[in-house]
Amino acid sequence: MGDLEFWFIARITGLTAFAVLSLSVLSGEALRTSVLDFLAKNRAIRKLHDFTTPLWLPLALTHVIALLLDKTARITPLDVFWPFLTDYGQLAIGLGTISFDIILVVTVTSWIRRYMNNTLWTWIHRTSYIGFVALFFHAALSGTDFDAPLVSALAWSTAAGLAILGLSRIVWGRLPA
Ligand code: HEM
Repeated sequence: MGDLEFWFIARITGLTAFAVLSLSVLSGEALRTSVLDFLAKNRAIRKLHDFTTPLWLPLALTHVIALLLDKTARITPLDVFWPFLTDYGQLAIGLGTISFDIILVVTVTSWIRRYMNNTLWTWIHRTSYIGFVALFFHAALSGTDFDAPLVSALAWSTAAGLAILGLSRIVWGRLPA
């Protein structure tokens, strides 16, 4: 396989990871509001949340491994964990690293939740909003396909959906868990 194939793989897996994480954040936020009640019961949304959350890992790992193998991208293993070190697109790619780090911590702490203090766990879990915003701008600033009308429409609709859910949570409060 050559650089071109690795680049295609990086783009496909990056976009799929974005889609999966969008669903994960939307379902997670919906769990705490009553806005999607007409669509599904909390239990079904919880299942969707639990199912979509770990899916991002193999996709994002393939995304970064493909970029490590694509010599044109000039990404080093350190760039995957430490932001802003690349010799081009520091902000665009650094935001990808920040989102990777945050979402990794959120995912791992979800697995060990029972051993953690609940307040600490909740605050760590809430950083996923920051991770998602970083991811959105990472994709918007560095992506090749992200400018395509269909991808762009889906991504902006997701952002709008999150904003509406967030607003409804502030206005109507939260459902009992
Ligand atoms: C949570 C982890 C990550 C996700 C979900 C993710 C997702 C994405 C998405 C959706 C795109 C746009 C694809 C396109 O429009 O074609 C993209 C592009 C890119 N990402 Fe990531 N990313 C992540 C982490 C990283 C990390 C850690 C790095 C490198 C340190 C990185 C480097 C890049 C580069 C270089 C591009 C541009 C590829 C191109 O030329 O189109 N990403 N990423």
